[in-house]
Amino acid sequence: MIDLRSDTVTQPTEAMLESMREATLGDDSRDGDPTVMKLEQLAAERMGKEAGAFMPSGTMANLVAMLTHAQRGGEVLIDEGSHTLNAELGGIAAVAGLFYRGIPGRRGAMAIEALREAVRPTLRNQMGTAIIWMENTHNRAGGAALPLDHMQAVYTLARENAVPVHLDGARIFNAAAALKTEAAQVAQHADSVCFCVSKGLSAPVGSVLCGANAFIERARAFRRMVGGNMRQAGPLAAAGIVALETMVDRLVEDHRTAKRLAEGLHRIDSSLVDPREVDTNLVRVEVGKSDRRAGQWSADLKQKGILVSPCALYALRFVTHRHIGEAEIDATVGAFGELWHRT
Ligand SMILES: Cc1ncc(COP(=O)(O)O)c(C=O)c1O
Repeated sequence: MIDLRSDTVTQPTEAMLESMREATLGDDSRDGDPTVMKLEQLAAERMGKEAGAFMPSGTMANLVAMLTHAQRGGEVLIDEGSHTLNAELGGIAAVAGLFYRGIPGRRGAMAIEALREAVRPTLRNQMGTAIIWMENTHNRAGGAALPLDHMQAVYTLARENAVPVHLDGARIFNAAAALKTEAAQVAQHADSVCFCVSKGLSAPVGSVLCGANAFIERARAFRRMVGGNMRQAGPLAAAGIVALETMVDRLVEDHRTAKRLAEGLHRIDSSLVDPREVDTNLVRVEVGKSDRRAGQWSADLKQKGILVSPCALYALRFVTHRHIGEAEIDATVGAFGELWHRT
């Protein structure tokens, strides 16, 4: 099977497995686990923040960020296509007790004027803005990397209004590679940031939430509240350390294979995807012209040994990662072409 459903399918490397066996352990919730503390420090350095807290998942890191930044009842201004609104099962309301206002935008970047209009203080008859939220890279926008000047404009607007900014940077290292910069340059336009070591970086489990010391100290309490307090988490953190130290630089290879895939599909039919819009390792493919729904496409491709995810009624998401090379891409394009011409 050629598995293009997600970069979360990546298996740990040999070096990760080795480091997991050798990790020194402690109780993270008592005196601390030395390997977890090392990962948290390394993560904070990479993000240009004071501190970090290791979490089991990106969803939990986002949820804890909401709980830590906001009082119940405030409003989160967030791109309407964000992962948090569309794939985190409403934790924003059900657990954090927050409202949200979906802001329209382009390729994951909220329209600044719409955002300006939506920001408001808490008054006796008006719910105030609690958090402004960004996602980079942007999953539903086909892995788009938000430009740094856009992020800066959002952060400036937030600061003028004394509103904290959170960055869902699940794939921040992909964003940094696409923008040809360091992750800290991306994260500088947010008060808090989380990223996953479990996606293209190939570690088996984990995300780190980073921010100022006082913020992370409060976040640790909320992490415990939602059940994310871990004990001897050293082996997981050990794999995360290897991920940060050895797997970041190779992400450009995934971007190259994604581009190759987009170019191949574009040659089959230009309505499928515009390769110029493929910034990173996600490729969103529009199959509407075929009159077959994404679910049918994904079933037909599976018959040919290729796994992809439907991401809208007529759109598929292909994700490249370290188990996908040029041969897998060429086989995928070939199989897709056969199905397309069968239409
Ligand atoms: C942008 C974004 N944020 C958050 C998450 C959640 O991460 P996790 O699956 O570790 O909960 C994902 C997962 O795909 C994601 O793409």
